[in-house]
Amino acid sequence: MPSETAQRTKEMPEKGLPQNTIRSQLEAKLRKDFSYSSGKILCSMCTNPHSFAKQIYQKYLEKNLGDPSLFLASTELEQETVSMLGSLLSNPEASGSIVSGGTEANIIALWAARNLAKKERGEVIVPISAHHSFDKASDLLNLKLIKVRLNSRFQMDVKAAEKAVTSKTVAIVGVAGSTGLGVVDPLGELSEVASANNVYLHVDAAFGGFVLPFLKELGYEPLDFDFSLPSVSSITVDPHKMGLAPIPAGGILFRDASISEAISMKVPYLSGETKESTLLGTRSGASAVAVWALLMHMGRAGYAAVVDRCLKLTWKLAEEIQRTDGVDVVTEPTLNVVGVKSDRIDVHLIFQELRKRGWAVSLFSDYLRIVIMPHTKPSHIKRLLEDLQMIIENLN
Ligand SMILES: Cc1ncc(COP(=O)(O)O)c(C=O)c1O
Repeated sequence: MPSETAQRTKEMPEKGLPQNTIRSQLEAKLRKDFSYSSGKILCSMCTNPHSFAKQIYQKYLEKNLGDPSLFLASTELEQETVSMLGSLLSNPEASGSIVSGGTEANIIALWAARNLAKKERGEVIVPISAHHSFDKASDLLNLKLIKVRLNSRFQMDVKAAEKAVTSKTVAIVGVAGSTGLGVVDPLGELSEVASANNVYLHVDAAFGGFVLPFLKELGYEPLDFDFSLPSVSSITVDPHKMGLAPIPAGGILFRDASISEAISMKVPYLSGETKESTLLGTRSGASAVAVWALLMHMGRAGYAAVVDRCLKLTWKLAEEIQRTDGVDVVTEPTLNVVGVKSDRIDVHLIFQELRKRGWAVSLFSDYLRIVIMPHTKPSHIKRLLEDLQMIIENLN
């Protein structure tokens, strides 16, 4: 849609306008955006943040984690937040940071792996389903990505990963909740490959990190993916996805502080002895404080209830899709993501028709992706299915 995204120009006014004028202008201009409350956003791994987290975020907007000597208490809360996330992922001793999102977290993980490995022209093994943040990371860090095929269940093929290991391998990346289909790679086996070859294993659980810990208690098949696997060195887990936190809130967790030391840098000019191990300098303390508050408020039980609702609705959608003539699911859902394919109708056409009716789903090369987030209600899915049925009849 180039006309909508084309560059726009605007001059700053010489004399400032009254706040109310600007509020009305913004109200009018932002009307074009999708809203989570409409239920039409089915293509995002983010959601309407929890109202309590929004209040906390607003209250502590001035906090800057880039200057721990001034914001010592915020820094302590960030460390407690990391530890709480670590406890969700079987390691309360984890070190790390609350960062801007999954992209920054993945870049930081490979940065640490590269520095620890100290190899010339290092290589990183990822499944072809890995998020494009790893392409960015490889470009920035001068690492070669070795993309390996998937097995018949859309997971990283472990044999192919094993074969790809060379003396230049800096890290293996497994995904716990893939961007396309929400699939979890066989991380138990990948952990063995990493250990046998003495290679760093990073897990991208940006999406799955707030879902997978609850599968067992909700009656679904539990999947190994976290620090309970001995070779896992770092995990990306994003509070601003299924954690219900305001954007920006990603998480990079290291098994212990010795790993993050590999990227730690002294900041020479701040008002105290300060070290940084994030990409950003000045960074939001409000994000970390809001995540802290939200984890304390929701507790495990609160998140388990959110995941329960999302998964039940996901399975209902998957079953309805299977019952609908003309479309099918790509694979059984693992998390709250459904891939929809068709062997009769071009999915690009279905995508366009859904968009005309106001639905935002994701378009991958040969399937559509629907993500059932906490803002999605059964009534939204009912309407989506009615529209889908009509579209299929018209296109058939
Ligand atoms: C598995 C995975 N990793 C990383 C990311 C990147 O996260 P962000 O958009 O917060 O940078 C995404 C985004 O959807 C993702 O699905």
